[in-house]
Amino acid sequence: MAAKESGAFYTPDPVAATLVRWAVRNSNDRLLDPSCGDGRFISRHPESTGVERNEEAARAARQRAPSAVVHQGDFFEWAEQSTERFDCAAGNPPFIRYQTFAGDVRRRALRLCDEFGATFSGLTASWAPFLVVTASLLRPGGRMAFVVPASIGHAPHAAPLIDYLVANFDAVRIVPIREKLFPHLSEDCWLLFAEGFGGSSRDIHFAPMERFREGDIPPRVAELVPVDEWRGLWNRRLRPYLLKDSQRATYQAVAKRPDTLRLGIAASVGIGYVSGANEFFHLRPSEAKHWRIPAEFLHPTVRNGRVLPPRALTARTINDWHRSDEPMLLLCIPKNADVPRTVSHYLDSPQGQKARQTYKCRNRNPWYCVPDVRVPEFFLTYMSGIAPSLVRNEAAATCTNALHAVHLHNGRDGGALLDAWDSTYVQLSCEIEGHALGGGMLKLEPGEAARVVLPSPEATSCLDETAIEGAVSTLRSWRHYGAG
Ligand SMILES: C[S@@+](CC[C@H](N)C(=O)[O-])C[C@H]1O[C@@H](n2cnc3c(N)ncnc32)[C@H](O)[C@@H]1O
Repeated sequence: MAAKESGAFYTPDPVAATLVRWAVRNSNDRLLDPSCGDGRFISRHPESTGVERNEEAARAARQRAPSAVVHQGDFFEWAEQSTERFDCAAGNPPFIRYQTFAGDVRRRALRLCDEFGATFSGLTASWAPFLVVTASLLRPGGRMAFVVPASIGHAPHAAPLIDYLVANFDAVRIVPIREKLFPHLSEDCWLLFAEGFGGSSRDIHFAPMERFREGDIPPRVAELVPVDEWRGLWNRRLRPYLLKDSQRATYQAVAKRPDTLRLGIAASVGIGYVSGANEFFHLRPSEAKHWRIPAEFLHPTVRNGRVLPPRALTARTINDWHRSDEPMLLLCIPKNADVPRTVSHYLDSPQGQKARQTYKCRNRNPWYCVPDVRVPEFFLTYMSGIAPSLVRNEAAATCTNALHAVHLHNGRDGGALLDAWDSTYVQLSCEIEGHALGGGMLKLEPGEAARVVLPSPEATSCLDETAIEGAVSTLRSWRHYGAG
């Protein structure tokens, strides 16, 4: 399995050394690393046990940590039958996305977590269940210190983990680190330290750091995040706590106003159509002419966010695309339509033979009818550099799933929506409700976009613009926007 799929990115030595120091209190403490890789955590403490699925890595771990016990195999399978208990745990769990974290390993992991009171959906990545099951192997009073992905600050699957931690530990500390711990990975990493297994806590200690510092104990100065506030006010996300108190208060003061709307109230936000074979279904005007495709089977489309002009897509832009022969015409054949001979020729061309083999085309009938072709009132970019753009659709175009399609609810005013979107406050809201994607990008899933707060003109007029700009630039710096 490739390093990325098995989550095999080994921790820099100073970080491993520090986490072991945070976790171990006495020389005879028993330490567990549930995914020990080449043994760089367990080699730092003689009373250690490591589990590692990869045979070669397990062999390296035995060599590096001769006094440790190393079990080769799946951690969840081992944990299920182990009666051993540990004083502490440290490590760096594999960050395997849900698509690859599958089969028996995931089934067992989720079942075990369920037994311990942490319910994850099938969309969870591997690291969160790793930490729950590791905690369940601690003795009362036990501690754990781990590298975690920065998505602990926003991912839906981080919430059941945090709920579990605060319900089972006296203190839970999260240490966001802005400068990359793994410079070659696009994913940022933070640190987690939980102590006093068997207890519970009402607050999360949140201690952002500019860069990693070695030390015997976790940073002392931390903001106390009340668990109720994290749940109720911030949709179980820690990212907003990267901001100052006063910035969060300014944001909430507007979000709570009666004249303020969330985008999901004004409109529905979904993705555009999935053709399954864009190269075939998106024709250039010259190709459409060559195949003599009738105009009623062609629909102007927006392929991605990069081609969108600011604010409004008009007939003029469509004409420009036409003139420069962009692949901007979607072959759009209604179900039950009589397919003209010229179109059949195109469907039966070598490109058509290839397109019908793709997964999406094979799984629909007829294969050439692209479903969900709709004309939204607005397009919204969902992967953005500086900020998501909202663009009014004045050209009756449709769009692919590389964009969000925004349909206004009855009676809602599109002009007011565009005006609100121009505010710095909306940029802040996108930073708070969206998430960092790596490479400086901001991603806004449909559910996140629906939560974006649209301030009324009155609310915008009395805002402290400098404070909002400061908050936006803080969150942009945490996602490394403009870092080159
Ligand atoms: C992020 S690496 C961390 C390794 C080591 N703790 C470190 O930080 O240097 C994750 C390790 O988990 C291992 N792994 C992945 N799935 C596993 C599983 N189900 N059980 C045990 N180990 C697993 C991978 O082979 C990889 O070595």
